[in-house]
Amino acid sequence: MSKKKRIINQESIQERVSTLAKQISDDYRGKPLVMVGVLNGAFIFLADLCRAVTIPHEIDFIRVASYGSDSASSEKINLTKDTELDLTGKHILLVEDIVDSGTTLTWLAEQFAEKQVESVRICALIDKKERRKTEIHVDYPGFTMESGFLVGYGLDYAEQHRHLAEIYTLDFL
Ligand code: IMP
Ligand code: MG
Repeated sequence: MSKKKRIINQESIQERVSTLAKQISDDYRGKPLVMVGVLNGAFIFLADLCRAVTIPHEIDFIRVASYGSDSASSEKINLTKDTELDLTGKHILLVEDIVDSGTTLTWLAEQFAEKQVESVRICALIDKKERRKTEIHVDYPGFTMESGFLVGYGLDYAEQHRHLAEIYTLDFL
């Protein structure tokens, strides 16, 4: 059994997404930007974020398997879907649902740094600090949390709850 408690409502999400989109639009104005969503968790966040960004940009997706259906991150990461656009000379913004241990994004950022790209930055809806194991810097954090397991607005537990419009903590009883 698990109990859900709403912690971030739709209005707060919308407001934060607009602020991030404005920063991103200002920072990348005049530059070739590619927003790369990390599937599956980022699909709703990226859908809202990209529609609030006012500068031209491209969108691509990547998929990694590292988590299974558990609530604790595994160390091993597999790339199960790579980007498909030509990223040469472009500025990459990795868009992720949540940074927990940091293992996934640290690994991903390294993969992109090896390509012929201009820059790699990170935007994450949730920057969750408690279990951090790497030095990763989240350039555009949506919400910062100390701990907890979150679902909704793309975030899942065992593939459930992604469709919820707001963000909840899940208490495992
Ligand atoms: P990391 O490699 O430990 O940073 O894990 C990142 C991935 O773990 C995210 O992309 C999520 O899929 C998953 N994850 C970590 N914490 C949560 C959470 O609170 N809710 C849902 N998924 C989570
Ligand atoms: Mg996930």
